[in-house]
Amino acid sequence: MSRRRQIYEGKAKVLFEGPEPGTLITYFKDDASAFNNQKKGTITGKGVLNNRISEYLMLRLGEVGVPTHFVRRLNMREQLVREVEIIPIELVVRNVAAGSLSKRLGIKEGTHLPRSIVEYYYKNDELQNPLVSEEHITAFGWATTQDLDDMMALALRVNDFLTGLFLGIGIRLIDFKLEFGRLYHDDDMQIVVADEISPDNCRLWDGKTNEKMDKDRFRQDLGNVEAAYQEVARRLGILPED
Ligand code: C5P
Repeated sequence: MSRRRQIYEGKAKVLFEGPEPGTLITYFKDDASAFNNQKKGTITGKGVLNNRISEYLMLRLGEVGVPTHFVRRLNMREQLVREVEIIPIELVVRNVAAGSLSKRLGIKEGTHLPRSIVEYYYKNDELQNPLVSEEHITAFGWATTQDLDDMMALALRVNDFLTGLFLGIGIRLIDFKLEFGRLYHDDDMQIVVADEISPDNCRLWDGKTNEKMDKDRFRQDLGNVEAAYQEVARRLGILPED
């Protein structure tokens, strides 16, 4: 692990000071948590796979003009990212009903949604990341209407692009969570995709069998969690060597 000054330790990642001002190093751990930290465990090799998968997806998004915080992967478990001011809103995009949507609204898991649904969650562990509306977000100053417009536009582009990318390798993108940050340069501010994009924060189902290839295998004790993450990496053509 990096010998640099630690800035923050999260459930699945550690953030360190980067080599230059305005950069950070993200270290990907094997630790997994679910249901707002009520369930904890370790998925051997997860950090290595998520580092690699997130690198790949952030780079592909960059190529189609979606700005992200990603700079480059440094080694098996670390990547260099731009330091951003994280917006305390988790944005979830859903194409097919699953997880908390199915539970909250009684919609059968697997039901194709008539259109993609975007939800906002307030990023606050103590409050267990509650679902919030645009009204809450702007009233409490967590983000401006302009920030939300930018985040929504980026999220829909990410959804279109990733849906196609995964479809091409026989995987259905059911839903995913994105985080965003404000990147400042001179007098300018740009909203960029931050955090990670990996099977920890996407639901990915096999296109033929609908088998789960994501963190739901850990959440629901389905077994073969690492093998599922590896299979996602393999289909993306990026399986890291042992
Ligand atoms: O649990 P729920 O159905 O709301 O999750 C929707 C999507 O957001 C899933 O892909 C899940 O992995 C992701 N998520 C996340 N971090 C959270 C909550 C949900 O990555 N704190």
